[in-house]
Amino acid sequence: MRIIKVKSYEQMSRQAANIISAQVIIKPDSVLGLATGSTPIGAYDQLGKWYKKGDLDFSKVTTVNLDEYVGLSGENIQSYRYFMEKNFFEKINIKKENTFVPNGTAKDLVAECTNYDDRIKKLGGIDLQLLGIGVDGHIGFNEPSDCFEKSTHVVTLHESTIAANSRFFDSIDDVPKKALTMGMVSIMQAKKILLIANGKQKEEILNKALYGPITPQIPASILQLHPDITIIYSEV
Ligand code: PGA
Repeated sequence: MRIIKVKSYEQMSRQAANIISAQVIIKPDSVLGLATGSTPIGAYDQLGKWYKKGDLDFSKVTTVNLDEYVGLSGENIQSYRYFMEKNFFEKINIKKENTFVPNGTAKDLVAECTNYDDRIKKLGGIDLQLLGIGVDGHIGFNEPSDCFEKSTHVVTLHESTIAANSRFFDSIDDVPKKALTMGMVSIMQAKKILLIANGKQKEEILNKALYGPITPQIPASILQLHPDITIIYSEV
């Protein structure tokens, strides 16, 4: 486990973007596992800038996102598919057909979950998984629970997650109560993991996750068992 402490959100974003771009340069057909939320926006922005400069080529890259809200279509501006289009995919030359986000409006959500896992398997797994961390220790939308959920599954969001994410919605009542999330197997089988976090409010949970007992009550604690994980943390 490598822990890199930096001084600002900008530094965190730049270093994360460096690691992601190194991955894409070394393996142009990489499968990148991607995350949403406030944390990765700066890294996506930086990657977009480097692409524009001509330093990066995403034409052979495939992406699989961690999660999506149940009930929101990709056209909904609150959906994670929309977030990815606006914050990353539109800024680079990735092929739309090579970008995967769970479908939160699938008629059969269980089948959608199984198909998502099959797709990741068919792609040969994830080369580099980018993760944020929730204040309750979630990764993707794997919420604290009595067991680690292995596969992609439907999850009922915890109140703290709904409260944290309500900042993106007009009202807390508009935040979907359920989501689809990649499970722990696909995340833990990623060849490399890059976890980024910023802000004092993430410090306590990060310490518990990285140095405390490995428990499904703190889903991110399972990452202690990953052989190749880098954490970049900025206090501000
Ligand atoms: P944030 O979310 O980047 O918006 O803080 C992180 C997460 O919930 O995984």
